[in-house]
Amino acid sequence: MSFKVPRGTQDILPGQTEKWQKVEEIIRHLCSVYRYPEIRTPIFESTELFQRGVGDTTDIVQKEMYTFKDRGDRSLTLRPEGTAAVVRSYVEHKMFGQPDQPVKLSYIGPMFRYERQQAGRYRQFVQFGVEAIGSKDPAIDAEVIALAMNVYESCGLKDLKLVINSLGDHEVRAKHREALVKHFEPHIHEFCSDCQSRLEKNPLRILDCKVDHDHPLMATAPALTDYLNEESASYFEQVKKYLDVLGISYVVDPNLVRGLDYYNHTTFEIMSTAEGLGAITTLCGGGRYNGLVEEIGGPESPGIGFAMSIERLLLALEAEGKELDTESQLDMYIVAMDEEAKLKAVELASSFRAKGISTELDYSNRKMKAQMKSADRQNAQWVIVLGESELAEQKATVKNMSSGHQEMVPFFDLVNYLTKQKEQ
Ligand code: HAM
Repeated sequence: MSFKVPRGTQDILPGQTEKWQKVEEIIRHLCSVYRYPEIRTPIFESTELFQRGVGDTTDIVQKEMYTFKDRGDRSLTLRPEGTAAVVRSYVEHKMFGQPDQPVKLSYIGPMFRYERQQAGRYRQFVQFGVEAIGSKDPAIDAEVIALAMNVYESCGLKDLKLVINSLGDHEVRAKHREALVKHFEPHIHEFCSDCQSRLEKNPLRILDCKVDHDHPLMATAPALTDYLNEESASYFEQVKKYLDVLGISYVVDPNLVRGLDYYNHTTFEIMSTAEGLGAITTLCGGGRYNGLVEEIGGPESPGIGFAMSIERLLLALEAEGKELDTESQLDMYIVAMDEEAKLKAVELASSFRAKGISTELDYSNRKMKAQMKSADRQNAQWVIVLGESELAEQKATVKNMSSGHQEMVPFFDLVNYLTKQKEQ
């Protein structure tokens, strides 16, 4: 019998994990600079939270959720995204009562969607996201977008395109909805059965149908931007002004509707324009969700946020041929010639590591030559060889592998010596 990772999931092995850690380091640094402290919510939540939050008619809720009953007969769902859970937590912990609004939060962790596997689309993927809840200042929309762009740029990505749109407010959505029904209704029988039921329930969802996206009526569908009222239009103008001030270029795409129901006003996606990335080019998606906090049981608290998967970020880096700087240096390899020497090697390794000197030794009882080769393969900065004479004299020769320089150092002074060398 042989076991494989479940479809749509992957093992991330050493060699890859260093890249993940580097990206996470960049993310944590930027979140601290922009002041979005981390929130950790459970991997599963009540199913109803996502039905209400993400929306009953979305693909995520209709087709993609990992839903199960626990032993207490409660319906639970592995989180398909982070926003609904963060909003739940904001309400549950009454963060709306904090004096400084918006409350700014970030998260990074696995999300689960039962999707068709392809490059850039997984069933378990890791999202980094932020939410700023409790403000409807267009400057915060721009800040959130700037943070997302900054993450990609700090990772070294260049071929990026920011697409923005406004979905307007409730009134705008209602008018647009009417227009959409009028537009699609006469030909709805040419669309898939999902779209047919979307026409009644949520015609906006027709626009992001994965089956009918090439139908000619899609391109001519009424655009939301044509229905924006004065307030929504002016909000959108201000967001754009702030983006201009930040020097962030963007393209306005009236067809950007996003696949989740909670959005209104600003929506955005960041795409990669790198050749060879494959069919999936959207790296990051986000937008404003005024009304979601009320939907989840809290007081009026407008919010905005985004999420990006680390998987797609790494794929985009690969497509651009960019390498993250993930050098992890092995400082010291201790070669031990016999059992006595091995005892000393273990003791020295522990004292080196306690001072932050990364140290490796042999655990396969290999001959000296094989141990030296291993030190070489691991790119050790220094090597010491311990044998009978070194133990007798309580000294070792430290060899610098890049310069070839050798120096005899007493055991008691090794930590000191190496620490000083490291500092140089
Ligand atoms: P979303 O557009 O569903 O939005 O997902 C955001 C990002 O998650 C995508 O742009 C992509 O990077 C990544 N992603 C989604 N599905 C997959 C998948 N199957 N495999 C790999 N990566 C994937 C949201 O989730 C919203 N919660 C974003 C948000 C936060 N809006 C406001 N606040």
